[in-house]
Amino acid sequence: MIIEGRNACLKGEIVVPGDKSISHRSIMIGSIAEGITEIDNFLFSEDTWATIDCFKNMGVNITSKNGMIEVKGVGLNGLKPSQKPLYCGNSGTTMRLISGILIGQDFSSTLLGDDSLNKRPMKRIIEPLRKMGGLIEGIKDEYPPLQIHPTQILSGIHYQMPISSAQVKSAILFASLYSKGETAIVEKAFSRDHTERMLEYFGANINKKDSIIFINDVQRLEGKRVFVPNDFSSAAYFIIAALTLKNSQIKLKDVGLNDGRIGLLKVLKKMGGYIEVENLKSFNNELVGDINVRYSKLKAVEVGGDIISSLIDEIPALAVAASLADGTTVIRNAEELKYKETNRLKAIRTELRKMGVGIDELDDGLIIEGRESLKPAILDSHMDHRIAMALSIAALNGKGKSQINNADCVNISFPGFYQTLYNSLIFS
Ligand code: S3P
Repeated sequence: MIIEGRNACLKGEIVVPGDKSISHRSIMIGSIAEGITEIDNFLFSEDTWATIDCFKNMGVNITSKNGMIEVKGVGLNGLKPSQKPLYCGNSGTTMRLISGILIGQDFSSTLLGDDSLNKRPMKRIIEPLRKMGGLIEGIKDEYPPLQIHPTQILSGIHYQMPISSAQVKSAILFASLYSKGETAIVEKAFSRDHTERMLEYFGANINKKDSIIFINDVQRLEGKRVFVPNDFSSAAYFIIAALTLKNSQIKLKDVGLNDGRIGLLKVLKKMGGYIEVENLKSFNNELVGDINVRYSKLKAVEVGGDIISSLIDEIPALAVAASLADGTTVIRNAEELKYKETNRLKAIRTELRKMGVGIDELDDGLIIEGRESLKPAILDSHMDHRIAMALSIAALNGKGKSQINNADCVNISFPGFYQTLYNSLIFS
């Protein structure tokens, strides 16, 4: 992909696609609910297709009509063994969340990933699922493929999370649907709570007291209509583009504003960014609103601690904003970025350096010296969708033509990213 930064700005209303996390969960929960689940504004992307394929292979009827998905739920115990291994592609969310459902089935399953997913850590789900009585194995107890076998009895657990992870929390919550007794989860830091919200919406007995999540014997879930909000993580690239490209002014419509996702807004406001949220409403237990953004002169910031889990996917985009801010930005407590689709700390450091940014990698974060503009360069996505999109915004801030190799990986979460970007660009 060639991107030329020639004094462009962003204008108008922008609609990004449906939320990836909520799309995955709507297929998973719809499949094990009773009756029909209708999903509006579902994200059709490579990651969510992987989830659909897994459940189709386990006998769930999932169809699409006029852009709307219909899932004929089979109930908690109605899944059938797949005739072939379940292929999760690049999607950590698919593999980690499905494991929590498969651990409660009376058949064995094998979960496979692509080259990137096969290098991602799974002990984080293996450990709690085993504590519940589950039979699950990976290579060296850590890497896919995962083998999951039926067990006589699963028991609820009281689990103190060693890391902040919505995927681990969700795997435990799904396993608890098949367990005897109460499960209580104590989070290290608050992470996106889409699973809790959707399970409650589908009828599960789930509560939160003093930041502990409790779930008790769930007999059945009931199919529902789900409206998937637009994806905040996809909106983030447009937010950063509008803040950094002079004269920009945009409105992002109907974006999901789950508290576990919007840490970036808080940080960007602290950096001096003009951001206003309006038109708030709620759909199936999720807050949704419009986000107005205007070009702003940004200043550096220090980011770390509990807020990190609510902006974990947005750090590559935040690094681009920091590259153009006044002063030195420090991002800490973000070691989880090393275990994403690629090592995102290393990838963003390597690529932004090519653009002339003074950026160093810490054990758990980044130090970034802001500059007036970025140098055009030949960049690489490291086959990671979020790196590709962040670098595209960096390239728009370059004085000349940049090339982004392996940019097709945007299809993992945002097919149509480049078209949406070009449609909202105005060249002067
Ligand atoms: C996700 C949770 C996050 C996030 C990922 C999607 C989810 O991962 O990075 O893109 O849908 O639950 P962790 O739970 O590993 O932090």
